[in-house]
Amino acid sequence: MNLETIRENVINCTKCDLCNTRTNSVPGKGNFQSNVIFVGEAPGRNEDKNGEPFVGVAGKKLSAALEEAGVSRDDVYITNIVKCRPPNNRVPNSIERDTCKEYIKQEISIIKPKIICILGNTAFNSILGGSEITKFRGKIVRKDNQLYFLTVHPAATIYNQELITVLNNDIKKLFDVIRELKNNKEIQIDIEYSS
Ligand code: URA
Ligand code: SF4
Repeated sequence: MNLETIRENVINCTKCDLCNTRTNSVPGKGNFQSNVIFVGEAPGRNEDKNGEPFVGVAGKKLSAALEEAGVSRDDVYITNIVKCRPPNNRVPNSIERDTCKEYIKQEISIIKPKIICILGNTAFNSILGGSEITKFRGKIVRKDNQLYFLTVHPAATIYNQELITVLNNDIKKLFDVIRELKNNKEIQIDIEYSS
């Protein structure tokens, strides 16, 4: 299995009902050798139209946060919990998330990121079983030898100036942590999950 095959499989996937209402599936995109994978919720209208993740207003917020941290979008890998847009942007249900899960598992196992950045509650819940991201954001989690960094969803910052600052500072912290990991420094784990 490689990322090009996953991409093809996602583009042609009909495994859940979201295939009936999508325009385009939205495979993950970015640097295959990235140290970090960003995980959002699901494609929105612009993503559905273009077949690329985070290209709408929420995507601009994410790009701006990366830019403030001195990182180019092309350096990282960005994906979603489900790869097809739910009608009216509703939250993907548990059947859809479970069905689509194998793709993100494959993306993670190929890229082997040093850390996975969870964007918002849907990704937090789907990957770690968590809730209340605003309470846990900014924290580093370790589960099954994989590190995770928790932050708010960029869409939540659209009408909330304070959350923009929160997101931007979190992303800066994330890349500070990544630099330390690259230098084999000890980092502080905030939460240990057992599986
Ligand atoms: N919101 C998401 O969660 N993912 C996208 O790709 C775009 C908006
Ligand atoms: Fe397949 Fe995932 Fe799209 Fe459902 S959301 S059709 S499982 S790619």
